[in-house]
Amino acid sequence: MLALAVLGSGKGSNFQSILDAVRDKRLDARIVCTISDVADAFILERARRAGVPAYHVDCSPWKTKLEGMGEERVLELLREHGADAVALAGFMRIVKPRLIEAYRNRIVNIHPSLLPAFPGLRAWEQALAYGVHVTGCTVHFVDEGTDTGPIIAQRVVPVFDSDTPETLHARIQEQEHLAYPEALQWLAEGRLRVEGRRVFRD
Ligand code: GRF
Repeated sequence: MLALAVLGSGKGSNFQSILDAVRDKRLDARIVCTISDVADAFILERARRAGVPAYHVDCSPWKTKLEGMGEERVLELLREHGADAVALAGFMRIVKPRLIEAYRNRIVNIHPSLLPAFPGLRAWEQALAYGVHVTGCTVHFVDEGTDTGPIIAQRVVPVFDSDTPETLHARIQEQEHLAYPEALQWLAEGRLRVEGRRVFRD
């Protein structure tokens, strides 16, 4: 069974979809701990309610990256809880090489666009502003770049004329909540093989 740690900064709806998948036995994993850089993030409350060890890690003085003392503490918690893999679920910091090397091809992220289109923040707004007619979500391994790692799975979401950033993001999130647990199950089954940029599902 995969010992999975989850890192997030926000409301944790993707984390909830992971918890639900574990409960329903669609995901053969044990959530060993949940870590947030935001003390009052709802993701920590969801963890507590589910009986998962929940930690706030102070990541100052940096605002957008996980480095130094914060990174050290995260690594320590991951080791302490015997994490095999890490799922980023709305974690709003850039993960640096030390953590990436410790968990090479075992850190997974979900991004709200069809990468490589619209990396970075508020991808659904970028998609709407650009005028694309389809967007979606991407589950990928984390590498040293921003939203550049090998792609595990993608789901397509239509953009409607009537969409606002909020309605489009909500439609993307529905697909995220299906795509993320499914991709994590492939990881749990040891089926994902990375060759260069390509991820094969054996
Ligand atoms: C999601 O849209 C995800 O794609 C992005 O951050 C958002 C997190 O939402 N990485 P939630 O906290 O899981 O609800």
